[in-house]
Amino acid sequence: MIADTSPMAVGPPPQIQVMQMIMAAMPSRTLGAVAQLAIPDVIGNDARNPAEVAEAIGAFEPWVRRIMRAAASLGVLQERGDGSFENTPLGDALRSDTPGSVRALGVLANEPFHFMAWGGLAAGVRTGEVPFEHVHGTTFFDYLRDNPDANEKFAAWMTQTSKLANEAIVASYDFSTANTIIDVGGGQGALLAAVLARAPQAKGILFDTPEVVADTSPLEGACVQDRCAVVGGDFFESVPSGGDLLMLRTVLHDWDDDDCVRILCRCREAAGPGTSLLILEMVLPGECSPHPGFIMDINMLVLNHGGRERTAAEYGDLLARAGYRMEGTTPTPSPMSIVEATAV
Ligand SMILES: C[S@@+](CC[C@H](N)C(=O)[O-])C[C@H]1O[C@@H](n2cnc3c(N)ncnc32)[C@H](O)[C@@H]1O
Repeated sequence: MIADTSPMAVGPPPQIQVMQMIMAAMPSRTLGAVAQLAIPDVIGNDARNPAEVAEAIGAFEPWVRRIMRAAASLGVLQERGDGSFENTPLGDALRSDTPGSVRALGVLANEPFHFMAWGGLAAGVRTGEVPFEHVHGTTFFDYLRDNPDANEKFAAWMTQTSKLANEAIVASYDFSTANTIIDVGGGQGALLAAVLARAPQAKGILFDTPEVVADTSPLEGACVQDRCAVVGGDFFESVPSGGDLLMLRTVLHDWDDDDCVRILCRCREAAGPGTSLLILEMVLPGECSPHPGFIMDINMLVLNHGGRERTAAEYGDLLARAGYRMEGTTPTPSPMSIVEATAV
């Protein structure tokens, strides 16, 4: 049999495929606004008509109707015969109170401080200037430190995305022999909470900036706070000592190579020879292929000076510069891989 290789057999024409990729920004913005307005939260387990939703959120009813209709066209809400709308399973994922909720992602992605930086991407590629810094006149993390509302939204996003990948990570590494696990740049503790729940013999230390560790609700949520110390500080200055297993999840991708080596050196100073270090990142394949890390790499380019995703070989180079030996890379059932290293 001769294979049909005509363009129609392999998908829509190229112009349509590219148009769909470009237009994907519009449903993205729409869902972000639906999340910001907390429409799925207001609907909850019931059905609500746009007038009820408008009253609950204090909004302009005719436009609430239109955005609910658009959300229904995306399969997030479902219109009933009486003009009311209910959540579909996708709408439930945008509620604050459902397991695995991604509402915080919708909110953050739609925050002007975040998406305005993307507007400077082409200009940044021309000049090498970090788009976020061009737009805001300051670095991403300094901006978060100075804007508590943005910091809270970013930390909530990290916690939610963290929870989505946690199961895949804890199932892919044996934490049963660790005594003290330190999560460096560990956010509000979502990963450490999942790891400690899996490793009842272990104690933990959560380390992040003082602003971020002001809220460690994931530790309390997993009932592991009694086995976990919380330390606020700066990982360019020092990292808590006493750990035999250190973790860095989606930390190094925020920084250029020299800053990564500085962070790794602080880890190495805090933990002696033979201790283990795990880097959890979207490790890029050596060649271009459809891997989510290549688009996340652009997000890093937009936000942070020198931020980037890296290949396993590139992590190996950074580790060697900081006194670690790379042992290997383990994929997980999520986009994250685990790069394991030993202090030498
Ligand atoms: C992309 S987030 C990752 C958070 C967490 N590891 C996770 O996977 O959810 C990077 C983290 O690095 C923290 N961070 C940035 N600069 C820091 C510094 N100088 N010292 C300590 N933590 C810092 C941020 O507050 C943030 O929580």
